[in-house]
Amino acid sequence: MKSIELTCEQDTIDLAAYITPLLKTGDIVFLSGDLGSGKTFFSKQVGKFLGVEDDIDSPTFVLLKEYHTGKYPLFHLDLYRLKSEAELLDLGIFDMVESGITLIEWPKIAETLLPYQTLKLVFHFDGQQRSVDIYPNSALQEYF
Ligand SMILES: Nc1ncnc2c1ncn2[C@@H]1O[C@H](COP(=O)(O)OP(=O)(O)OP(=O)(O)O)[C@@H](O)[C@H]1O
Ligand SMILES: [Mg+2]
Repeated sequence: MKSIELTCEQDTIDLAAYITPLLKTGDIVFLSGDLGSGKTFFSKQVGKFLGVEDDIDSPTFVLLKEYHTGKYPLFHLDLYRLKSEAELLDLGIFDMVESGITLIEWPKIAETLLPYQTLKLVFHFDGQQRSVDIYPNSALQEYF
């Protein structure tokens, strides 16, 4: 695990700039951490670096937003309001993750369905300081 400080938005943008080129179809990124800690902000930057033309906003109320104008299809989920794994199955989660890059905010409920993540990022924000803990899978270990 690697932990880094995110002292300003540019640090999070730089992190996304570093991570995005490491991602490819089939990859799953879990984004955990406090409310307002930067999970959606990070996701927006990944979209930008993939070349997604649409504006990426929070999928909290819709569960899933997908973008097809970037280098790879991008699936952005927020499971904060998800009540059951069945809802994820209804979304066709397995076909989805195979066909693009999947970013999941509040991923806890998806953990048993999707036990193998490419990367896990745990964001921290205590009202003042921000940081992120980075957990890469074995394929990405060398980059962190
Ligand atoms: N270093 C930073 N990294 C990320 N966001 C930052 C940073 N500094 C300030 N911000 C601001 O903090 C806010 C983070 O909000 P964001 O919606 O990304 O949080 P979130 O983790 O997705 O929250 P939620 O749990 O509600 O989904 C944004 O308004 C962003 O502009
Ligand atoms: Mg969010």
